[in-house]
Amino acid sequence: MPRFPNVSEHAHSVSPRVYSDLEQRALANNDEIYPLHIGDTYRDPVAAAQAEHQLSAEHPGLHRYAPVHGEPSLIDAFLDYIDRRYEEALDRELVQVMSGATAGLSVVCQVLLEPGDEVLLPSPFWPLSRGIIATKGAVPVQVPFYTRLDERGFDVEAALEDAVTDRTVALYINTPNNPTGRVLCDATISSMLRVAKRHNLWVLCDEAYEEIYFDAEPPDAVWKRADVRDRTIAFHTLSKTYGFAGALVRRRLREMGPPMLHLGAPGPAQSGSREAGSSFSNMTRLSHASIEVEPGPVSVRHA
Ligand SMILES: Cc1ncc(COP(=O)(O)O)c(C=O)c1O
Repeated sequence: MPRFPNVSEHAHSVSPRVYSDLEQRALANNDEIYPLHIGDTYRDPVAAAQAEHQLSAEHPGLHRYAPVHGEPSLIDAFLDYIDRRYEEALDRELVQVMSGATAGLSVVCQVLLEPGDEVLLPSPFWPLSRGIIATKGAVPVQVPFYTRLDERGFDVEAALEDAVTDRTVALYINTPNNPTGRVLCDATISSMLRVAKRHNLWVLCDEAYEEIYFDAEPPDAVWKRADVRDRTIAFHTLSKTYGFAGALVRRRLREMGPPMLHLGAPGPAQSGSREAGSSFSNMTRLSHASIEVEPGPVSVRHA
């Protein structure tokens, strides 16, 4: 049990280095570096959603706690999006508004994982996914994957199957993938899900880039497959699609027992807190900012 000034053993297990070793090697070669794993937004949110337009006078209760489940009108807008984008009428009880996919994944891992549990993490991956799993005392099991998909003879199912042990509890799938941009095809997803079903794994599908693709057809979603619906939790975010990287919202796709927590602090809330002379941030503003998003995703294809 760590006491001041020590922190938990799990926190120590999180490595700050995922791509920095690679970066050092590239620098030594004088290579040009493009940090593709940093999925920050390059655009501003629609005007109505920008912080300066969130007037207290126009939003009664703006600085009160937001509903725990999420603002009803925001949930309506999200259900409408899912209906139009995926032709799927979701039950609103399956949706939980959170303060970004990072916080959502963190809370879900906290609920699902016990220390020592293993999570299959196809690599390369969004660096925070590994740290989130590790801080819960679970083990992110890296499986070289996205960069091997074009290799002759690469067997998706065997690669994952070989990494399964009796401690494996979940499979994390990120498509379109950060940092490779790879969009998984139907056959690959089916192979991955066969492993998940065979071993009764949770499926954590990270849909952060669902609206960033270059093919004519949008990528289909892992969570839509009827045969894994019961075990799947999907993470959506406004960060990339709507230019909200500093003001985060996501959902979960499954009824979970314990209440969800809000983690992190969106930029507008932090600056509001600074103005208020407070060191804490209030997430309420987040829900209101999000409601102002015009219906329908802003397409960022071919940007
Ligand atoms: C794959 C992936 N998932 C989740 C996130 C984080 O999403 P959010 O900004 O909603 O926390 C990122 C951010 O770069 C990402 O690349």
